[in-house]
Amino acid sequence: MIQQTLSIIKPDAVERNLVENIKEIFSNNKLKILKTKKIQVTKEEASDFYKVHQTKPFYDKLCSYLSSGPIVVMVLEGENAIEENRKLMGATDPKNADEGTIRKKYGISIDKNSVHGSDSPDNAKKEINFFFKN
Ligand code: CMP
Repeated sequence: MIQQTLSIIKPDAVERNLVENIKEIFSNNKLKILKTKKIQVTKEEASDFYKVHQTKPFYDKLCSYLSSGPIVVMVLEGENAIEENRKLMGATDPKNADEGTIRKKYGISIDKNSVHGSDSPDNAKKEINFFFKN
């Protein structure tokens, strides 16, 4: 099934000029970049975006981090895009990510893990709409 998913290149990766490297990984793996923009979110916007995590102990740190510098948000499209993107990203903690995945290659820590990707069709819809309202 052709799906769309939201991908974020986080501040640590933008700062290290990894945007083109990461975009190339998506394009080389049949994930078409339909929309892309570089933005910086406020802490309030980050808190809204990550509100599913609001009860977690790392929530405040997570929202401060996402708003700490420019990010690149993208809509990716392809066959099983949600799952394919998650496979390409690798495990949340770069320490546990498989060889060849984006987080293994570029992630610094569980916080600075370079990329975010939607985890379900419902969240993909919500997250795409969050950044790309028509
Ligand atoms: P992401 O896929 O963007 O979704 C939520 C983020 O919270 C996650 O990547 C991590 O960067 C961050 N995070 C920080 N601590 C944890 C933790 N203990 N478990 C899961 N995610 C964490």
